[in-house]
Amino acid sequence: MKDLKSTVFVLEDDFDSAQVLRGHLEIEGYSVILATCIKDFRSVLLEMDEVPPVFILDVMLPDGNGFEMLEFIQKEAYDCSVIMMTAASSLGDATKAMKLGAFDYVSKPLDFDRLNLIVSHALEKWQLKNETKELKSRLEPSFSNLYIGESEAIQKVYYLIDRFAPSNSNILVTGESGTGKELIAKLIHRKSDRKQKPYIVVDCGSLTENFLESELFGHVKGAFTGAIQNKIGLLKEADGGTLFLDEIGEIPMGLQTKLLRFLQEKEFRPIGSNQLLRVDVRIVFATNRDLLKEVEKSEFREDLYYRIHTCNIHLPPLRERERDIPLLVAHFMKKFAGDRALEMEPRAMQTLMEYDWPGNVRELQHVIEHMILLTSHNCLTHEEIPRLKGGLRSKLDYLFDEFLSSDQSLKEIISNFEMSLIERVMDRNNNNITKAAEILKVNRTTLSKKLSRLQSGKFE
Ligand SMILES: Nc1ncnc2c1ncn2[C@@H]1O[C@H](COP(=O)(O)OP(=O)(O)OP(=O)(O)O)[C@@H](O)[C@H]1O
Ligand SMILES: [Mg+2]
Repeated sequence: MKDLKSTVFVLEDDFDSAQVLRGHLEIEGYSVILATCIKDFRSVLLEMDEVPPVFILDVMLPDGNGFEMLEFIQKEAYDCSVIMMTAASSLGDATKAMKLGAFDYVSKPLDFDRLNLIVSHALEKWQLKNETKELKSRLEPSFSNLYIGESEAIQKVYYLIDRFAPSNSNILVTGESGTGKELIAKLIHRKSDRKQKPYIVVDCGSLTENFLESELFGHVKGAFTGAIQNKIGLLKEADGGTLFLDEIGEIPMGLQTKLLRFLQEKEFRPIGSNQLLRVDVRIVFATNRDLLKEVEKSEFREDLYYRIHTCNIHLPPLRERERDIPLLVAHFMKKFAGDRALEMEPRAMQTLMEYDWPGNVRELQHVIEHMILLTSHNCLTHEEIPRLKGGLRSKLDYLFDEFLSSDQSLKEIISNFEMSLIERVMDRNNNNITKAAEILKVNRTTLSKKLSRLQSGKFE
């Protein structure tokens, strides 16, 4: 098939007119597909994976009416423009064509200059639309492409992003290492009105105090030894956009004070400068530390903690969202296998789902990448799973360790265990109480009662 981008599909029953029209369009550089009756037109159309951008349809045809085909094309929502050829005497046909959604009409006998103009307009419109579509898909991958997950825990995260992103509030993203905090920060930026403005990432954990301060706030020439010229701080560079302050738990005390002042006043002074700068920046903070514990240890300012904690998105660890594991596995297989058609053996998937993933999604991603690199066949097997951090520890082992290292009594451990078990069974069965009760071998009322106690947080 020729390049569809410059193809015109003509439906015209009169042999001579059809040949003249085709000759004309070909001289103009278009390829032409011709059908002389509705039956042929339909069968060619239905065979096509992609339709040409422009159609020119006659109205009176031996086996029906061109309007029927216009309606059909509209109903199927093909990505194309339709030009109707109406009889000169029939103003009604022209009006009808426009009403039914035709791009334009030409009356017979054809005025080829007018036809040229209309066809080239139709093509321009099509090209513009497709370029925008492509650009959009490159710039704004949807949620489902960027951040994988549909477990209940992740749905809550999406909900919060939708609520917080459009506002101007600063947001704190918490969660263990590898849960996707950086990805979420990027998503917040993309879902905000600031998406066209800068998005700047600063890793507070990897810079010394002085360097971090001058990175964030900037400095003037001569402010300190080595300040050989003025430097614009990242806060200023991110003006209008989003600044992602990663590893906020690592930020030194002195800078915490300066940051707090900025958060309160929305203005700051570059180092060595008297000038106050005012900027409009949304800050997304992230940490894998428990900031409250840092506050208790006096390593994080309490007032700063309360300032940044108001909008908090917590990413649950992967072991608490088993349902997302197959989706993530499929996503990473696609990412790393390229064109190779690969499958995951069910037993291997089972193991991946039962593992406790201390390194969360990052660890899962590495495991899949590693398996794909090393395998020579098209089914990834259980034997090919690399030795995971804690050996093949299951989530059960993890729970046991957690319970044993806590100072809970045996009674508390057992009731907490019961709660985790119920949660897991409910999650696996889409919260269907009857089904869960059957699996747990308790009656439905007992389970309902336990669940309502669980929801109220008074589970014992
Ligand atoms: N839900 C997800 N869907 C797709 N990829 C994900 C998801 N979560 C995490 N990843 C990938 O896992 C890796 C780790 O994610 P990210 O760097 O955002 O984690 P983090 O929470 O910032 O970890 P750390 O605390 O160690 O900095 C990245 O490569 C990221 O793309
Ligand atoms: Mg990170």
